[in-house]
Amino acid sequence: MEGNPPRESVSSAAPNFHYNQLTPMSIVEKFVTMDYGPAPEDPREAVAWLDKHHRRFGHFINGAFQAPLDGKYFDTTDPSTTEKLAEVAQGSAADIDAAVKSARAALPAWQPLSPHARARYLYALARQIQKHSRRLAVLETLDNGKPIRESRDIDIPLVARHFYYHAGWAQLLTQEFPGYEACGVVGQIIPWNFPLLMLAWKIAPALATGNTVVLKPAEFTPLTALAFAEICQEIDLPPGVVNIVTGDGSTGEALVAHPDVDKIAFTGSTEVGRAIRKATAASHKKLSLELGGKSPFIIFEDADLDSAVEGLVDGIWFNQGQVCCAGSRLLMQESIADQLIAKICDRMNTLRVGPPLDKSIDIGAIIARVQLDRIQRLVDQGVAEGATCWQPSIPMPSRGLYFPPTLLSNVHPTSIVAQQEIFGPVLAAMTFRTPSEAVELGNNTVYGLAACVWSESINVSLHIAAQLKAGVVWVNCTNLFDASCGFGGYRESGYGREGGREGLLEYLEPSWFKNAPQLHPRPLAIDQPPAQLTEATADSATPPIDRTVKLFIAGKQARPDSGYSTEVRAADGRLLGEAPLGNRKDIRNAVEAARKATAWPKSTAHTRAQVLYYLAENLSQHREEIATRLADVVGRNQAATEVTTSIERIFTYAAWADKYEGSIHNPPFRNVTLAMQEPIGTIGIFCPAEVPLLGFASAVMPAIAVGNTVIAVPSELYPLITADLYQLFESSDLPPGTINIVTGRPHELLKTLAEHDDVDALWCFADAATCATAKSLSIGNLKQVFTNEGRSIDWFNPAQSEGRFFLQHATQIKNIWVPYGE
Ligand code: NAI
Repeated sequence: MEGNPPRESVSSAAPNFHYNQLTPMSIVEKFVTMDYGPAPEDPREAVAWLDKHHRRFGHFINGAFQAPLDGKYFDTTDPSTTEKLAEVAQGSAADIDAAVKSARAALPAWQPLSPHARARYLYALARQIQKHSRRLAVLETLDNGKPIRESRDIDIPLVARHFYYHAGWAQLLTQEFPGYEACGVVGQIIPWNFPLLMLAWKIAPALATGNTVVLKPAEFTPLTALAFAEICQEIDLPPGVVNIVTGDGSTGEALVAHPDVDKIAFTGSTEVGRAIRKATAASHKKLSLELGGKSPFIIFEDADLDSAVEGLVDGIWFNQGQVCCAGSRLLMQESIADQLIAKICDRMNTLRVGPPLDKSIDIGAIIARVQLDRIQRLVDQGVAEGATCWQPSIPMPSRGLYFPPTLLSNVHPTSIVAQQEIFGPVLAAMTFRTPSEAVELGNNTVYGLAACVWSESINVSLHIAAQLKAGVVWVNCTNLFDASCGFGGYRESGYGREGGREGLLEYLEPSWFKNAPQLHPRPLAIDQPPAQLTEATADSATPPIDRTVKLFIAGKQARPDSGYSTEVRAADGRLLGEAPLGNRKDIRNAVEAARKATAWPKSTAHTRAQVLYYLAENLSQHREEIATRLADVVGRNQAATEVTTSIERIFTYAAWADKYEGSIHNPPFRNVTLAMQEPIGTIGIFCPAEVPLLGFASAVMPAIAVGNTVIAVPSELYPLITADLYQLFESSDLPPGTINIVTGRPHELLKTLAEHDDVDALWCFADAATCATAKSLSIGNLKQVFTNEGRSIDWFNPAQSEGRFFLQHATQIKNIWVPYGE
C-alpha cells in the first residue's frame, strides 16, 4: 500500500483519453501489450437526435413540446468534457401550472380506462424503449457521465423491465386492488444519478394505477426524460397523461406547492426531502420520499473474499459511487482486515477511469463541478479527522470531471466520512470483532436504505440481515434491482417503496378514504357549560368525583412530572375525575420505556396473538363497568357499542398478528428475494377523540399486533379511559413498555412526540389542522406520519377502521436478496 505516488502526480502524467481523440491500435500492438484498447461507443445516433431538435428543448405539456412561458433556457452539459449538449427550458410556476392543468384535464378519461387499455399503453412504452435502447443508453451516458456499460446493460434494460412489469399490474389492477382508486394528479421529482431509471420507477406505477403525471427531471440530466416524452408521442399516449417540465430546484418547489397536485413522489437529498415534507404538511398531498443512504458493506471472516471484493467494486464504484444505496461504509471483521485491504487495493489498481462512452471503462465522470468539489471537500475533512487516504496509481483523464477511486481507512465511526453521504467513488473502511458489533456499527447511521452482508454461512447472513435497519439487504451480492422487488428506506432514507405490489399502494388510496368528508372537531366535554341531565347520564350511577388516574409508563402507573392534573367532565358538565397533565419529560420517559421494551418486537407472532386474545377476554369480563363509565361522556348506546366493537377489533388484530406476512419474489436473476414485513419501531399515536375506547383499540392494536411499541395519547374527550386500559394491560401479560399512555394537553404532547427523534412514526387521528401540525413537526428524523388527513373515519365500520389499511402503516418491507447456485 505504501509508496504509491500521490494522486496529483499520477493524474498530471495521465494521457488525454477521450472518445473522439482515440488512436486505434494495430493487431500487433495489441498482442504485444495485451492491454485493453479503447472501445468507443458510436454516439452519432444520439447526437443526430439532439440535432434533430436543434439542441433546444421546451417542456412537454399536453402531448407537445412547448416553449417556456417566460422564454428562459439553461444548458445541459457532458460532464466527461464539460461541453454543452443542448439547452432546455427553465420551468416557471406558470409552466408548472400549465402542466398540472393538462394532467388534471387528462385524468377523467385516463382513470376510468379499462385495465387492459392502460396495460396496452404501458406495454407499448416498454416496447418502444427497447427499440430505442441503444440511443437512450448513449444519451444517458452523454448527459450523466456514467459508463456506457452501465447505461446499456443496467439502466435501460431495467427501464424497459419496469414498464413491462407495470403493464402487468395495469391489467390486474381492479382484480388485485378492489376498492382502491388513483390519487389523481401526481407530481414527481427525480435526481440525476439514474435519470431514465428514476423516471421509469416513478411514471410506470403512476400510470398503471390510473394517475396522470407531471415529472420534473434533475437539472443536470433532462435529456432522456425528453426522449421519453417523444416516445409518449410515438405510442399515442393521450395528451396530458404524462407532462415533463424541466428546470431546477425552484421548478420542483413550484410543483410541490401547486394546490391541484394530489401526490408528490420525490427522490433526492434528505435535506430537500425534509423541505418537501414541511411544504406539503398543510395539504392532503400524499407523499413518498426516497432519500439518501450510508449503507454498510459487511464482510465476515468466512466470506469468499474474492467475490466480496468484486461485490465491493459494484457496491461503491458503480456509477462513480453516485448511488443512494452505495455500499459506502466497509465493515470488515478484524481478523481479515489486512488481507482484505490488500485485495481491495490490488483490484483498485485495475479499475479504469475514463471517457464513459468507452465500453471498457469502469468509472466515468462525476455529474458536475459542484459535486466534484463536494467529494473532495468531504475526503479532505475525513483525512483531517484521522482517516488514511489511498488512491491507486492509474491514469486519469486530464479534462472532464473525474475523481479517482478512493479508499479511506482507519475511519472513526463518528467521522464525517462515516456518517455523511459522499455520493462519490469513496469507500470508508472500519473494522468490527463480533457479529453484534457489526450490527451495531451497521445501524450506526441516521439512514437505512440498504446493506450488504457477505458470509458463507446462511445462518449468520440471515441473522445479521434481520437485525439491520435497512429497506434492502443484499446477501453475498450487491446493487441488484428489479421491478418486482420494492426499494426504499428506513429512518431518514425516507418512506414509501418503489416497485413491487407495495410500490403501487403509493399511487392508490382506498376510495372510502379519498372521498370521506372532513371531520368537524366536536367541542370537548371540558369546554361545555354544565347542562341538564341527558339520556346519557340520567341514570348514571357514577359518583361526582370518580377517580384520579395516573400515566402508564413502562408497565407502571406513574405520577406526572408536573404534579398537576386536569378536570374531566361528563357531557352534562359533572366532574368525572382528574387526568394527569403529562409534559415533555413524561413523554421522554415513555419513549425510553417503549424503546427498551425489546421483548415485544422479539416475541413470536403467535405470542403476540395470544396476548391480544387475552386482552380481549379481559375487556369482555369488565365490559359492564367500562361501558357505564364511558356512558357519562358518549351516551349509553355509543358506550355499549364501543366496548363490543373494541372486543371484536382486538380479536381482529389477534387474528392478523400471525397472518400479516411477507412474500417471496423471483426476480430474473439466480436468487430469491424475501420480502419481510417488519415493525417500524416505536410509534407515537394520537388517538381519535370521538370514540375514546374504540379509537384507542383501533389505532393501538394494529401497531402492537405486528411488533411495534407505542406511546399513546388517549382521547382528549375522555382521557380517564387510561385507568380502564392499564388495568386491562396489567392483567394481560403485556410486557412492560409495550404500550405507554400519557395524558395531558393534547397539542403539547403531539408536538413533543413529533419532534422526538427516538419516535419512528407518528399516527394522528384528528381534525385537519392537528394532522398538519403532526406532519410539519415530524421532519427532524423524517418519521413516517399516518393521519386521517382531517377526514372522518367511521370507527364502527370495519371496512374503514381495521385491517390492511392500518397494518400497512404499521410495517415496512425489508427485501433480503439471497442468491443461489454455484
Ligand atoms: P437535490 O435533492 O437537490 O435534487 C434532487 C431533485 O430535487 C432535483 O430534480 C432538484 O431539481 C429537485 N429539487 C431541489 N430543490 C428542490 C426543492 N426545494 N423542492 C423541490 N424539488 C427540489 O439533490 P442534489 O443537489 O442534486 O444533490 C445533493 C446531494 O443529494 C448529493 O450529493 C447526494 O448526497 C444527495 N442525492 C441523493 C440522491 C438519492 O438518490 N438518494 C439523488 C441525488 C442526490
